Amino acid sequence: MKKIKIETALSHIAKYAPFEDKAGASHFPIYNTGTFDLKKQEGDKIYDYTRSDNPTREMLENLFTDVENAAGCVCTHTGIASVALLFETVLKANSHILVEADCYGGTFRLLKVFKEKYNITVHFADFLEEDKLEDILKNNTIDLVLCESPTNPGLKIIDLQKIATLTHKYKALFAVDNSLATFISQRPLDLGADFSLFSTTKYISGHGAVVAGAIAAKTKELAQELHYYANAQGRSQNPMDVYLISLGIPTLKVRMKEHQESSIKIAKFLEKQSYITKVTHPALESHPQYELAKKQMEYIPGVFCADFQTLELAEKFIENTKIFGEKCSFGSPDSRAEIPAKISHASFSKEELKAIGISDGTVRFSIGLENFEDLIEDIKQAVK
Ligand SMILES: Cc1ncc(COP(=O)(O)O)c(C=O)c1O
Repeated sequence: MKKIKIETALSHIAKYAPFEDKAGASHFPIYNTGTFDLKKQEGDKIYDYTRSDNPTREMLENLFTDVENAAGCVCTHTGIASVALLFETVLKANSHILVEADCYGGTFRLLKVFKEKYNITVHFADFLEEDKLEDILKNNTIDLVLCESPTNPGLKIIDLQKIATLTHKYKALFAVDNSLATFISQRPLDLGADFSLFSTTKYISGHGAVVAGAIAAKTKELAQELHYYANAQGRSQNPMDVYLISLGIPTLKVRMKEHQESSIKIAKFLEKQSYITKVTHPALESHPQYELAKKQMEYIPGVFCADFQTLELAEKFIENTKIFGEKCSFGSPDSRAEIPAKISHASFSKEELKAIGISDGTVRFSIGLENFEDLIEDIKQAVK
């Protein structure tokens, strides 16, 4: 049978359960247990302890494996735990890692930890400058290359196919943080990556009610290693959170469409305002990688940046808005606006932020599922 489309798969999560529920429950039961009795099980697959394996978590891992076209997947207790699991699986003491300089602040902080504790050398680069990237790969033994696309918060679009080819030329592994685009928009493994990881806290769960993550691998060997380290380091997700994440998954596609459409309307409105100096949204023609964004992603996520003339103006907007929450994170039904320099990327220095195009007055918007006209009216009153 021809492979079913992603939205069909997402609407039938229970079909990905490792065994059939005898009552035919639409939602596969939450196996909320720490242990399983070995004597009461038969067959190939035996469960013993939830940290290692759990049927409810396995259902979600099977679904993500399928929709990412992966060989296997591990669901983790947070998105950053997936990044940590990637490092624990691929890096050794004294390894070198090459990372796109525009990365999530929590990843940046985690890299500092690995650098200090395990003497990992971290090379930061602008992945749009392929010659410089190749120089780093040529002159160092890089084990792992990591980027997001779109990047957060700079919203650069990285040509994943090109970076995969370059990475493999130098025998490194390539991982993509797919938290922003999600597998409904782009599938990094199909473009040559070895790992696709994502914070399911965001668009995938869609409700902002839980933190969780996942990491999918292209080969069976890499998937087995992820599984081994997830058990060894205690990275696996608890079954109750799997259930909460699975409630949002069937509506991912319709939500992404709405986030995309509303955010474009609001970004276009902001582009025309005299108090805004720049709007960075990959779906706008003014974005430097607009064509690549269209080619690489089916839906453009509803996250974009707008540079207010001054920090004071940006703060005035944040202070006076009645709808946008001053919250980090993105992909929830409620719209958010935050100053990356103060919140999500506070671990970056001023110079590091400048290098990735973030100024004091930059506000990162995550457009939710409200009526877009209400959002525009709210912006108007907030800056008056
Ligand atoms: C791109 C990206 N990756 C990873 C994470 C970490 O995810 P979590 O907050 O679920 O740990 C985030 C969180 O904001 C993120 O933006």
